[in-house]
Amino acid sequence: MTKMLPASPANIASAAKILQDGGLVAFPTETVYGLGANALDEKAVAGIFTAKGRPAADPLIVHLASLEQLPRVARTVSETARTLATAFWPGPLTLLLPKQPAVPGLVTSGLDTVAVRVPNHPVALELIRAAGQPIAAPSANLFGHTSPTTAQHVWQDLQGRIDLILDGGAAAIGMESTVLDLSTPQARILRPGGITREMLEAVLGPVTVLEQKRKAEKGLPAPGLLEKHYAPRAEMVLFTGEKAGEALNAYLAENRLVRKVGVLAADDEAGALEQAGAVVYRLGGDLSSIARAIYAGMRWLDGQGVDLILCREYGERGLGLAIRDRLTRAAGKVIGSS
Ligand code: TXA
Ligand code: MG
Repeated sequence: MTKMLPASPANIASAAKILQDGGLVAFPTETVYGLGANALDEKAVAGIFTAKGRPAADPLIVHLASLEQLPRVARTVSETARTLATAFWPGPLTLLLPKQPAVPGLVTSGLDTVAVRVPNHPVALELIRAAGQPIAAPSANLFGHTSPTTAQHVWQDLQGRIDLILDGGAAAIGMESTVLDLSTPQARILRPGGITREMLEAVLGPVTVLEQKRKAEKGLPAPGLLEKHYAPRAEMVLFTGEKAGEALNAYLAENRLVRKVGVLAADDEAGALEQAGAVVYRLGGDLSSIARAIYAGMRWLDGQGVDLILCREYGERGLGLAIRDRLTRAAGKVIGSS
């Protein structure tokens, strides 16, 4: 039986006890909800994979309450890693570091690196502190579904499969953390997220971004960064390039008489799209609102029973890169224009 409870101090304390006893607790972070287990307890970690239906080849992120806990999971911490952790933790930056032998191979899919971050959310920090252990936590959705940004989303996916969901309201960022590989001469973003390329470059100098299509190739250090992921049920089409807006409008006009079409749209485009016959989910007016709203929007449009979801990219500056990445993974089809 899964319980869903408000994240009060008493409920956080019971949640910590569940984690200590090897159970599974979904909890809020600033990015998305995580599904936590004691990272040093292999049996507990195995439960995460079962609950999510996640393949074991997809490694997990270990969450800490503070930088001081790092030696428990990382064998060495380079100068660069320390600088980044000091600059961006607590926050949406995941660092890949050489792993301690104490971390079960199941957490890292047998890799020699462990992914670590300190989340910037009071409930998450209090829970990890109270549990007294590093907490392994992927996003709290069924494998292949969109990441949950509210406790209700977690409930839809994982009720009956986990012990407890702590409800701490909607996630502030709404997209998963940036995953940064420090094993290459130049730091490399494996998954863009809340800590943007520009923010990292202000601290590190030039940073590279692993191209979407290369992630699926064999032998790359991120086996879990599957190309198709985070998908809604409806077919989804992404429009890219300068004429993305016009191309989306034309596609809508062609399809709206034969299919129920949903659109994820920025506020300034929403009215015209509604006029044109689409079911519109309003994302907001700036990149941070758009990032926050995208997963909730996909779930909402699925709930409206649309057959097709249309969306466009918003460039690659700042959060635009992460938005494009998630939309590309969710979309079955990308239509480019220049
Ligand atoms: O914001 C987030 O990162 C959320 C919250 C809950 O913290 N967590 C999250 O976890 O998104 P998950 O499991 O859905 O995504 C973790 C990503 C996966 O794509 C995985 O492949 C990658 O991190 N990863 C984990 N360990 C890795 C490693 N040792 N090397 C390369 N990639 C790794
Ligand atoms: Mg995930």
